[in-house]
Amino acid sequence: MQYDITDPDLAHIGRRRVEWAEQEMPVMREIRHSFGEEYLLRGHVIAACLHVTTETANLLMTLKAGGAEVYCCGANPISTQDDVAAFLAVQAGIPTFAKRGEDKEILEKHIDAVLDKNPTIILDDDGNLINALHTRHKDKMAKIIGGTEETMNGVVQLHNLDSENLLDIPMITVNNAHTKNLFDNKYGTGQSVVDGLIRATNRLLASRNFVIAGYGWCGRGVAMRAAGMGAQVIICEVDPLKALEAMMDGFRVMSHMEAAKIGHFFCTVTGNIKVFRKEHFEVMMDGAIMCNAGHRHAEIDIDILEKMSIAHREVRPMVTEHILSSGKRLYMVAKGRLVNLAMAEGHPAAVMDMTFSNQALVVEYLLNESGTLMPGVYPVPRFIESQIARMKLEAAGINIDCMTQEQMDYLTSWYHGNKGF
Ligand code: NAI
Repeated sequence: MQYDITDPDLAHIGRRRVEWAEQEMPVMREIRHSFGEEYLLRGHVIAACLHVTTETANLLMTLKAGGAEVYCCGANPISTQDDVAAFLAVQAGIPTFAKRGEDKEILEKHIDAVLDKNPTIILDDDGNLINALHTRHKDKMAKIIGGTEETMNGVVQLHNLDSENLLDIPMITVNNAHTKNLFDNKYGTGQSVVDGLIRATNRLLASRNFVIAGYGWCGRGVAMRAAGMGAQVIICEVDPLKALEAMMDGFRVMSHMEAAKIGHFFCTVTGNIKVFRKEHFEVMMDGAIMCNAGHRHAEIDIDILEKMSIAHREVRPMVTEHILSSGKRLYMVAKGRLVNLAMAEGHPAAVMDMTFSNQALVVEYLLNESGTLMPGVYPVPRFIESQIARMKLEAAGINIDCMTQEQMDYLTSWYHGNKGF
């Protein structure tokens, strides 16, 4: 199977959209240029299991420009943009195995298809490839020099594997890079979740109670943007420090049960399961709208909501109305899957520029360190982060200062002490 996509005829639409994203990815363009000159990735096979979006296409084209053979499958059944998949497979020479709406069986078949190419490097999102490699594809492990992980849930999975000494390759946690989470998780998720929710519902946010479960990197961004639209933001947390931070940032903080009674909108972004569940559905107001922005569609207990419903129907595309026996109507957007990718287009290219530049430079780092990195979980090296931040600032035409020698001496010496007093 050379590729498995929905419609090859969509390739020309995909190309236009990939080029549009590229305009906002100056760091990636520069990396692509230098990869193309150095051709460092020649002889390597890269298997990428990522959301198939316009920004991902730009990353994969950069890796191909560096000489790698690149194969791609989708990280989530609802996030694949079929026109981008078509462009990659038909015009960009990157065999792609992804169809929007694919079921679990096809998704697994697509993961198998990229692993069957015997990759030397993997790019993972939510541990799809890692999971397959540590279960049904153990034979493929020996050739792999390392990989990257894109999201928080995948990072958790890596640490769990590593704590049991089961992780067989070095994996670098791109999700934890500040040049990722400070911008992609916060500004990207913030903007695109609000965008997705509005596209899905066309409801007014101003003056409405907007409940956000999880005040981590993503939750902060969603809170900031929902507040910007005039919503009354309420935060639910389980970490007292994050709850305190939310309070100091000016948001109301309360328990899930208190919030459930007064929320007009609910958005989960915790990486956890069953954050809103039966007891919360029971007290929610008629007309409450729920969505999820966490990676997995387990944050809202949809199974129990379905059991509690006497009827349900699709009232708008991807908006399901659940009618409970009391007559109350609760609405679920995109069946609890990532609302920003299901209903909008995911993160804007300007933030993905940094995230995916991390991916590209980490691939180069893995090659340079090949044989020296033991199996385990590693952060993105600081020098890569600094390089990306510097390139992004330069692209924006912003200059910053360097410390003077005197300042450097001052900060690196114990001797200066408190001499002024
Ligand atoms: P994070 O670790 O920074 O934040 C998660 C927060 O949720 C933490 O503050 C934690 O205390 C809180 N939390 C955990 N269980 C909770 C519960 N039961 N109730 C309330 N709060 C709870 O993680 P980050 O980066 O914000 O990611 C969160 C989720 O979003 C993950 O699933 C991640 O994979 C996903 N993600 C989604 C993106 C998107 O495009 N929609 C983009 C990036 C990440």
